[in-house]
Amino acid sequence: MSVKVVVCLDEPIGTIHPNIYGHFTEHLGSCIYEGIWVGEDSKIANTMGIRNDVVAALKRINPPILRWPGGNFADDYHWQDGVGPRAARPRRVNMWWDSEEPNQFGTHEFVHFCRMIGAEPYLCGNVGSSYPRELRDWVEYCNYGGDTTLARQRAANGAPEPFKVRYWGVGNENWAAGGSFEPEDYAIEYKRFATYMRDYSAPLYLVACGAYGEEPSWTQGFFSKMVKTPFRDVPRLHGFGVHYYCGTAGTATEYSEQQWYQLLAAGLRVENVVNMQRAAMDSYDPLRKVGLVIDEWGTWHPPIEGRNRAHLWQQNTMRDALVAALTLDVFNRHADKVVMANIAQTVNVLQALILTDGPKMVTTPTYHVYDLYQGHQGGRAVRSFCDAPAITFLDKQDKSASLPGVAGSASVKNNMLTISLVNTSAAEESDLAIQLRGGTCSAAAARILAAADIHTINSFERPDAVTPRAIQVHLDGNELHLQVPAASVAVIRVKLV
Ligand code: AHR
Repeated sequence: MSVKVVVCLDEPIGTIHPNIYGHFTEHLGSCIYEGIWVGEDSKIANTMGIRNDVVAALKRINPPILRWPGGNFADDYHWQDGVGPRAARPRRVNMWWDSEEPNQFGTHEFVHFCRMIGAEPYLCGNVGSSYPRELRDWVEYCNYGGDTTLARQRAANGAPEPFKVRYWGVGNENWAAGGSFEPEDYAIEYKRFATYMRDYSAPLYLVACGAYGEEPSWTQGFFSKMVKTPFRDVPRLHGFGVHYYCGTAGTATEYSEQQWYQLLAAGLRVENVVNMQRAAMDSYDPLRKVGLVIDEWGTWHPPIEGRNRAHLWQQNTMRDALVAALTLDVFNRHADKVVMANIAQTVNVLQALILTDGPKMVTTPTYHVYDLYQGHQGGRAVRSFCDAPAITFLDKQDKSASLPGVAGSASVKNNMLTISLVNTSAAEESDLAIQLRGGTCSAAAARILAAADIHTINSFERPDAVTPRAIQVHLDGNELHLQVPAASVAVIRVKLV
């Protein structure tokens, strides 16, 4: 198919917050234990208990922020359980994920891990089964630089300097596992909790629990209460954390061509989610002071027997990689509102970037999308248009549906233009003609992620089955031409004069 892409360098959207390329880890299955934490005595190479191979892989993709400890787990987590000598830490039931929690990986281990990979920690507090005192104490423990009992406790546990944790979530999915609140009641709780979370060594960025998907009623209920009962601390709301998962089109690894399209279309619905949520927020927050955070998103395929059923371990294919690329492009295109996004989850759970099996580790096709898209982090998003034929397919109700043959985004940083384009066709290659408006290019290079089979995975035996490679791009004045294979992600880097 022939596709014309126009990039309007003189039509800025906003700066792409690096945190859009954020991640999420939860005490769920083998994400933390085995995936990140193996303990100091493990035969698996580690630094202070944390896997070296996972740290090295994550560092390569420049992760800006990491959310922890949940997810559902967060609203039944008591941070005091996870500090102090490890041998003395209590063992609890992990009520959401059918396991026991040994508390070997707690606040210090998490902050240490964040520092090893270069990410900002984003802690999600317990609202559902706790009270404001516990969360205000966690803030003091982490961030207070003076001589209080909690600051001394932190120092005695090995960290004399405050952690300076800036990002805090006030609960998780509080409409369900986080306490089954009504939105208005949660707003009251939010204000109560946020009042006691003070700035100490770092100005806090507080994220409220947002809605799921396109559903606006939680957003409306929450904001109407926040706005109707103003008090001096209402500005202590900085982000609103919406969640969106897509799945149920075949299994993680077995899907037809129709199901390939069904999942990509479900992934692309994140644009409706962003549009609906930002519109609902705008009616209460017209000055757009509150950022839209998508702090859980990704593919969630139907469970299969074995490791997957209780613990959400899932294989990752080219199809997941395309969902990641399409989604990140949506966030880039909404850089004026989306301030953070955290794919679920980093290791061994749902749309993982890394899979481990004992000492073995492999990076998934989704990981390579994050690698390819690094150039967008912190760039100035500019408008781009893809004139591509629509692809039609049958949806799950056997009704005709369609999705764009090619979609993407563009941004500029330090005179370097990054254009990402996804060829959604499972069968047809694409001839791309990219026209630059409002600027001049001097050189261009492109890399793609592609595989002959749409089901391709990276396995421990073939870890590089899906890995980015360079492809030719021809420069013709201010037009770029390249041919990309079916089912591929292309990233073109253009030097501007
Ligand atoms: O990511 C898995 C779960 O999905 C999280 O614990 C919860 O917040 C969401 O429902």
